[in-house]
Parts: sequence; structure tokens; C-alpha cells
Amino acid sequence: MSTAIEGIDPSRVPTHVGCVMDGNGRWAQRRGMQRTEGHAAGEEALFDTVLGALDLGIQWLTVFAFSTENWRRPQDEVRFLMGFNRGLLRRRRDELNDLGVRIRFAGRSDWRVPRSVTREMQESAAMTVSNRTLTLTMAFNYGGRAEIVDAVRSMVAKGVSPKEITEKSLAEHLYLPDMPDPDLVIRTSGEYRISNFLLWQLAYSELVFLDTLWPDFRRSDLYDAVREYQGRNRRYGRV
Ligand code: IPE
Ligand code: IPE
Ligand code: MG
Repeated sequence: MSTAIEGIDPSRVPTHVGCVMDGNGRWAQRRGMQRTEGHAAGEEALFDTVLGALDLGIQWLTVFAFSTENWRRPQDEVRFLMGFNRGLLRRRRDELNDLGVRIRFAGRSDWRVPRSVTREMQESAAMTVSNRTLTLTMAFNYGGRAEIVDAVRSMVAKGVSPKEITEKSLAEHLYLPDMPDPDLVIRTSGEYRISNFLLWQLAYSELVFLDTLWPDFRRSDLYDAVREYQGRNRRYGRV
């Protein structure tokens, strides 16, 4: 599993890494291609990142695949992204399963997500449910604000009283309550924003912003980000 990688202390590898996989459209446009071809090229980047995470012994990898705001894109692109994610799961899940990857999803269920996509997500999750080498969470139709709203709704529906609402109990009502907070979040494409990714969970995450466009991202970029992370001093409000 984890191999020695120069300049990385294996005892301080982040437990959970999040990735905002951004820049697919610009990658394609710079090559005179359709934006959708950039999404397709992002598949290799994702798979290589998974292999890099396995090499490092990272246990949780969460990737932003489709946001609750991405419905605002042209209908053709949205349709492509739905089909692309369904295809990606079909193409890759056996290999991921063989690698010991547990595939999970975080996001809101939504009538706009085609049934065939939901089915593929459920099958991929069921097939890999007992794997523990790496948990790959795809944030799909995910929004951090929507997640907090959904958590509050489920608490209210259960009749939780005001004094029972605590940081701990709210966190227990998020989509994946057993998921640890990300230690490191990487955003590609030179944008310095969070865009509604894991808002609750990233209160104390270390953030690394890269100019690299997502389709060009490879495990070596993950290693660079982990080196950067290991150079940071996480204080959590202390001195
Ligand atoms: C990220 O790439 C993928 C998704 C949001 C689905 P973009 O499609 O946002 O690419 P840019 O940011 O327009 O270049
Ligand atoms: C964030 O990227 C969402 C995903 C990577 C899926 P966007 O491209 O949607 O974010 P903005 O619009 O630049 O903030
Ligand atoms: Mg973008």
C-alpha cells in the first residue's frame, strides 16, 4: 500500500483529502475543443489521483463532481455530465473495487438526476461497501449549504429540541456522519474559492490552490500538495 515518497513523512499523511476538480472547460477551450471533452479528460486525472492516494495511504478522498449550482449550466452540458458520471462508474468500478476502494456519494437526491445515474451510483456503492483501503466519496448534486439545510430539516422532523442542537448532533445529521473532516482541500484551475464544497467540514482544513487545470492534475500534484500540507502549522485556535 503506502510506499516511501520523497519529502513526505508517512506518519503525517492527511487522513482525508478533498478535491475541487475545476478547470475542465478551460482545458478544452484552450485546445479548441468542446467543454465536454475537458470533463472526459478529467477521468484520467481522477483515476491517477486515486492511485496516488492509495500509494500515500490516504484513507478518505472526496471529489466534487457536480454541484447544486451546476444545474445552471447549459442543458447539453448538464446532460453530458450526468451521462459521463454514469459511464465513469460503469468503466471504473471493477478496477476500483479490486483496489479496495469503497465508493460513496454525498449530495441531495433530486428528480433531475436521471434514474439510470442513481441506479449506477447505488450499484457502485453496494458493490464496494465492505472495502476499506480508501473511501472515495463523489460529491454529486452536492452543495454545502444544502447539506446543512438538510441536516437541520432532519433534526426538526425528528423533533430534536433546541438544547439538543449542538455542533456534534448537527454533524451527526450530515450526509455521511462517519466521514472525518478533510485535513487538506485542493482546488485546481487558479480560482481562490470554495464554491459551496463541504462548508461545515472544512472549518479547519488546510487549503491548497493550484493553477493546474483538473485534466492535467496527476498524482505528482497530489504529492506536492501533501508536502505543502506537511509544512503547515495547524493551530486550531491555539497559540
Ligand atoms: C469542473 O470544470 C467540472 C465541473 C464543474 C463539473 P469546469 O467545467 O467548471 O471547468 P471551467 O472552470 O469552466 O474551466
Ligand atoms: C465547483 O466548480 C464545482 C465542481 C468542481 C463540481 P465550479 O466551476 O462550478 O465553480 P465556480 O462556478 O467557478 O465557482
Ligand atoms: Mg469551473
